[in-house]
Amino acid sequence: MAKVIPSGHTLGASVEGLDLSRPLSAQEFEFALNALAEHGVLRYPRQELTALQLRDFSARWGELEINVANMYQEPGVPEVMILSNIVENGRPIGLADAGQSWHTDMSYSRTIAFCNVLYGIRIPQRHGEPLGNTEFCDQRAAYDELPPDLRKKLEGKTVLHDFNKFWEMMRREKGSARPALTEAQRKAKPPVSHPIFLPHPITGRKALYANPGYSVRINELPQKESDAILEFLFEHQTQPRFRFAARWQVGDVLMWDNLRTIHNAVADYSADEPRLIKRCQVMATRFFQERS
Ligand code: SIN
Repeated sequence: MAKVIPSGHTLGASVEGLDLSRPLSAQEFEFALNALAEHGVLRYPRQELTALQLRDFSARWGELEINVANMYQEPGVPEVMILSNIVENGRPIGLADAGQSWHTDMSYSRTIAFCNVLYGIRIPQRHGEPLGNTEFCDQRAAYDELPPDLRKKLEGKTVLHDFNKFWEMMRREKGSARPALTEAQRKAKPPVSHPIFLPHPITGRKALYANPGYSVRINELPQKESDAILEFLFEHQTQPRFRFAARWQVGDVLMWDNLRTIHNAVADYSADEPRLIKRCQVMATRFFQERS
């Protein structure tokens, strides 16, 4: 019998009693979907999954993204991406610096993301404590706690999201070895706009849908005012009271709702402390149309 153990924060819960290596029944899936809608971030401990099982569990939640340009795909299972700092025979086996700053996955995309599903295979530890936490901020709470006059002013506005913002920040501020995007790559991922407040397709509750990683402009406001408000929103939405840190253990499947959260992969481990995570990206096509 599956049960949900809430973290005690506005985000986060552990789901016990589900074996994700086999197809979930309709009731089990409904149970997990409601738990995700309520808690935003779920941890399913002690799982043993092949890449195919990870893909099949993830595909239950919606259409999976295949990043065609990504060289870190699981061989034969392109929907599964490898995140890792491990180098074998001089070659990295995965993307080492994914998500190491606050952002929402795929907010730069015409089709936005519903949830992410990550499976922890090697988790670094120091002095018995896990490293490489994935941190989250609750954007439903951030929306609820916006100053009322600002919430009113921003209602109906849209935000422009640019893939290149995060990419360049990683090169400039985090010493990432990733090369600058080529003109062709930038053209393939042009900036896109989405509503600044998104009603959740399951709960109907609104969340702030802007993030420091990709949001560059509130379209309907003059540049200066947009810059000032975005700066305020980035500060507001990452306040400690909205935060929850998922502390990884080997065998965890960690899943989060991108329509309600922003996240940050904490880079507090070194090159000789191996981390290996397999990841699927579930798009929100079941809820939203592609935007132009
Ligand atoms: C991500 O999807 O942003 C990476 C999360 C992580 O590696 O903890």
